[in-house]
Amino acid sequence: MSKQKVLILGATGHTGESILNGLLKDLESFDVEALVRPSSVDKPQVKNLAAKGVKTRVVDIDGPLDELVKALTGIDVLISAIDATSQLAQLQLVTAAKKAGVKRFVPCAFITVAPAGGVFELRDAKEQVYQDIWKQYVPYTIIDVGYWHQISFPMLPSGRVDYASHMKPKVEIHAGGTAPTLLTDLRDIGPFVARIIKDPRTLNKFVFTYSDVLSENEIFALMEEMSGEKIEQRKYVSADDIIAARDKAAADIKADPANRMAQLMRIRADYKYSKYVRADNTPAYAKYLGYLDARELYPDFQPITFRDFVGELLGGKLEMPHYH
Ligand SMILES: NC(=O)c1ccc[n+]([C@@H]2O[C@H](COP(=O)([O-])OP(=O)(O)OC[C@H]3O[C@@H](n4cnc5c(N)ncnc54)[C@H](OP(=O)(O)O)[C@@H]3O)[C@@H](O)[C@H]2O)c1
Repeated sequence: MSKQKVLILGATGHTGESILNGLLKDLESFDVEALVRPSSVDKPQVKNLAAKGVKTRVVDIDGPLDELVKALTGIDVLISAIDATSQLAQLQLVTAAKKAGVKRFVPCAFITVAPAGGVFELRDAKEQVYQDIWKQYVPYTIIDVGYWHQISFPMLPSGRVDYASHMKPKVEIHAGGTAPTLLTDLRDIGPFVARIIKDPRTLNKFVFTYSDVLSENEIFALMEEMSGEKIEQRKYVSADDIIAARDKAAADIKADPANRMAQLMRIRADYKYSKYVRADNTPAYAKYLGYLDARELYPDFQPITFRDFVGELLGGKLEMPHYH
């Protein structure tokens, strides 16, 4: 098979960087470039791309369509890992991908498994992009990954894992803590994507990835077992509290649609509602929705387990995901 020319939107972000690193490990299969917006060309993260030998295509995805089509010309696989609040900016990309003859568009999914239609607003924003793909008959693959290991662990009384904790304090247990949820290490998104986009079985399909399926109670127990510490300060958040937080964020957005903090609160509350109240983020529900299971497709690939991740975390070897 000849090399696939892959263009990544978001290669300077968390998900996009993982994908970039995954593809760069397989240069026999991929020739990788990054789509960069004009306002970001001078960012150090973009300069780092050149240092890795990654060429860039600079274009404004909201700019003239013909320039975007030109930027996508010759691309076999277009992958978008755009930030959560910018999903609809991908709509013109769908049209451009169709016109440029892109052979597979991987739009920005990369979240937990959830149904469309009012459960999870971010999922519904992504759905608008998927529906445009289907309307325009663009070849696609949609990849969801569960929740990252990097944002799934509680803090310990000693403070030894605070260095890698994105949200502080983090000792919440939601809706009883019993719902099992799919987890993938952020660093494994890339290796999974590298396998998925080479695979004809995944064309025009949904795929889900994971290393573990764990409830919050199981995660807390694992952290206690491996650290030897007792997490006494658990904060129990009921299903009603989650629903109330969701309703409040929705009301705040209605009052001021540009309220970014309310948008982020809505995303957080929706994740909790879908994962912990509805218990959507499971292999069984993913299969019910028609997803393919990446662990069944690639039994040779051993993702980083949550236990191994916690070992690194306790050893002080991890980095906190940073938002630029
Ligand atoms: N499953 C999970 O646990 C989990 C956790 C977090 C996020 N996610 C999902 O993963 C996706 C990616 O999130 P992330 O946190 O990885 O993103 P991120 O770190 O915020 O990075 C976003 C990337 O998109 C680029 N970008 C934004 N707007 C652009 C535009 N108009 N043109 C070109 N590039 C643009 C940014 O480039 P610049 O350098 O130009 O800013 C950056 O590289 C999100 O959609 C989110 O829903 C999932």
